[in-house]
Amino acid sequence: MGEVTGRKAAAVNAPDRVAEAGGSFSGAVRNMFDGIAPRYDTFNHWASMGLDYGWRRATVRALNLTAADAVLDVGTGTGDLAFASAKTARYAVGCDFAAEMIRCARDKTAPGDRTSFHVARAEQLPYSNGSFQGVTSAFAMRNVKPMLVDVLAEAFRVLGPGGRVGILEFSRPQRAPIRWGHGLYTRVLMPRVGKRLTGTAEPFEYLYRSIQEWCSPQEFADFLRDAGFTDVSYRMMGLGTVALHTGRKPPSTEC
Ligand SMILES: C[S@@+](CC[C@H](N)C(=O)[O-])C[C@H]1O[C@@H](n2cnc3c(N)ncnc32)[C@H](O)[C@@H]1O
Repeated sequence: MGEVTGRKAAAVNAPDRVAEAGGSFSGAVRNMFDGIAPRYDTFNHWASMGLDYGWRRATVRALNLTAADAVLDVGTGTGDLAFASAKTARYAVGCDFAAEMIRCARDKTAPGDRTSFHVARAEQLPYSNGSFQGVTSAFAMRNVKPMLVDVLAEAFRVLGPGGRVGILEFSRPQRAPIRWGHGLYTRVLMPRVGKRLTGTAEPFEYLYRSIQEWCSPQEFADFLRDAGFTDVSYRMMGLGTVALHTGRKPPSTEC
């Protein structure tokens, strides 16, 4: 934490505020993550108190990957979920539209770790139908909210028949004391620490708002079903602050 204190990120504007002013939500999301990319991992692990490692491992376990499987991680950021999948799968591809996040992911690769990283948009994936046996995503869905239907349709398309999807996203805890504590933590503490780490509080104020405005786990399960996924279920982790949704592409589906 100390080593990054005082470094400044490029100026960012919160995506929801940019969209309210008539600008591009998606463009602002990309600028925001490009701006905070070098400090992203530090903030991430700090903010989750290290729990994010376990959430990613749970996502990989839920997919029941085999050594024959190829996995795509959508909105991969600095690649941690792709790295986790590649420990079990044949290989993992991570894609993200923020080139600086992909640069950080590539910097973390080591010889033989069976990962590759591409700059690509989640709503227009540059992969053929049925290329993967697993699709994962962590904490990216809130950031593609305006085109969520397209993003899930693309995840479905690139999966082969019987392929599995596993999606992690923040949630609002149901139990009152935890909800209040989490609200305080995300609204007050995270922007302060985020500013100290990256030089700007805006992405972390947006993080709070985007969690508040995100759909419920039940609603997100319905989005997955509407995209064609079957066996959709979810489990809550981190005292209800994170939801892991899983589903399957039906075995008989062509694309
Ligand atoms: C909160 S970060 C999560 C990164 C990583 N999955 C993790 O767990 O740490 C969200 C990521 O989604 C990416 N993203 C947002 N919208 C996207 C889009 N339309 N296409 C591709 N990537 C997108 C952002 O650039 C960012 O890296």
